Amino acid sequence: VANKKYIHGFTKKERQRLLDQGELLASLVYPGVELGKCRSILEVGSGVGAQTLQLLKRFPKAHVTCIEHSEEQLKTARLKLERPLREGRVTLIHASAERMPLKSKAFDGVFVCWLLEHVPAPVAVLKEIRRVLKKDGSLFIREVFNQLWYADPPNPKLTAYWQSFNDCQLKLGGDPYVGVKLGGLLKDVGFKEIEIEFRSQLFDRRDRVKRAAMMNYWRDLFLSGQNASPAMKKQIRTQFETLKKDPSGSLFFGFVAGQARM
Ligand SMILES: C[S@@+](CC[C@H](N)C(=O)[O-])C[C@H]1O[C@@H](n2cnc3c(N)ncnc32)[C@H](O)[C@@H]1O
Repeated sequence: VANKKYIHGFTKKERQRLLDQGELLASLVYPGVELGKCRSILEVGSGVGAQTLQLLKRFPKAHVTCIEHSEEQLKTARLKLERPLREGRVTLIHASAERMPLKSKAFDGVFVCWLLEHVPAPVAVLKEIRRVLKKDGSLFIREVFNQLWYADPPNPKLTAYWQSFNDCQLKLGGDPYVGVKLGGLLKDVGFKEIEIEFRSQLFDRRDRVKRAAMMNYWRDLFLSGQNASPAMKKQIRTQFETLKKDPSGSLFFGFVAGQARM
C-alpha cells in the first residue's frame, strides 16, 4: 500500500509533473545508463511511467518490468504505456520495492530514479534489487542531494521554503540527502564496482529558454511539497516570477548518478 504521506502527493498535477520531468531531465539523467545489452530491465519505483517511456525508447531490445506501490500512479502509467503494454514490451506490477514479487536472479539490469529519497529503509530496497539481479547484472540509480540547490541572487524566501520542504520529507520518513549516502549503502548491501558521480547544472542567461524551463520546473517541484500552505504557494510563485524576470538570475542544482554491479 502506498504511503499517503508521500511528499509530492498523488494529484493529477503531480502525475503530469512527473511526466514533464522525465522529458526535461532526460539529457541529465541518462548519460551513463548502459542497459543496451539487456533483455530484461527492472525499473523500481516507476511512478506514472515517465522513465519507463525513456527506457523503452533508449533500449528497444529490452523488456521492462516496473514495480510501483501506488495504484494511482499505475493508473496513469497504464494509459501512458498503452502501446508498449499491448506489444508485450512492459509489465507493470503493483508492489512494494521492499518486497518485490519477482524471482531471484531474473534481471540483466535495474534502473532506479528518484525513489530512495522517499523510502524509510533504503537498505531493504537495495537488498531486494541485488536479489533479483543476475550474476553479471548492473544497477543504475539516480538520486537527489537537495543540498545542491541554489538560486542567484540569493533568495532567502525560496531558501527557507526549500529547507522546510526537506525537513518535511525527513519527517515523512524519506531522505532528501540520500545521494551522499548512496555509495556507502551500496557497499553495505554487497554491490561491487560502485561508482558515484555528482552531476550539477547551472542555468543562466547564456540560454534564456532553458533557464526559464528549469525555473518553471523547480517552481512546480517546490509547489508539489505537502508542506506548502496556500500562503507559501503564493510566495513561491512570486519569488520564481521575480527570479525569472531578473536577467542575471541563475539557478544551480545537482544530483547523484550511481552505478554498481553484482
Ligand atoms: C518521485 S517518484 C519517481 C517516479 C519515477 N521513477 C520517475 O522518475 O518518474 C517516486 C515514486 O516511487 C514510488 N514509491 C515510493 N516508495 C515506494 C516503495 N517503497 N515501493 C514502490 N514504490 C515506491 C512513489 O509512489 C512514486 O511513484
